[in-house]
Amino acid sequence: MMISEALAGLLNQQIVQEFRASQVYLGMSVYCTGLNLDGWTGFFERQSQEEREHALKIVRFLSEAGAPVSIEAVPGAATRYGSLLEAVSKSLEYERKVSDSFRIMAKVAQEHHDHTGYGFLQWFLGEQIEEENIFARLEAVLESSLNPFQAETLPPKE
Ligand SMILES: [Fe+2]
Ligand SMILES: [Fe+2]
Repeated sequence: MMISEALAGLLNQQIVQEFRASQVYLGMSVYCTGLNLDGWTGFFERQSQEEREHALKIVRFLSEAGAPVSIEAVPGAATRYGSLLEAVSKSLEYERKVSDSFRIMAKVAQEHHDHTGYGFLQWFLGEQIEEENIFARLEAVLESSLNPFQAETLPPKE
């Protein structure tokens, strides 16, 4: 195994968290469809797809590094929210937790002098800045007096 056992364990736990985020965002896309907010549906569908890609990135890395990989059950996700703002605020909260997890993993990798694992984590730390920024901006627009259609003009991601 080319990475530390400690980091391999945490990355395995993160796989399920990425799939969970994928489910949550898919549920949010369904909620937005019910509100006839097609732009938001597309946005959350793309977020869902991205989270799946994050999971795959970890799965491939673990395999290539010769570490054990476990694919655990993923919980179901809500398709109803009190408001679009609630969905976006929950997304931001979740992304912040994910950022914390990656920072903890980076610390563990450093403690184990796991340079390979530490290097792998850098991409995710950068990605999390982007993710938190998108949801923080959307939340700010929704909390303002602008309407959600105007919020669609924010370029969340192509
Ligand atoms: Fe992710
Ligand atoms: Fe994310």
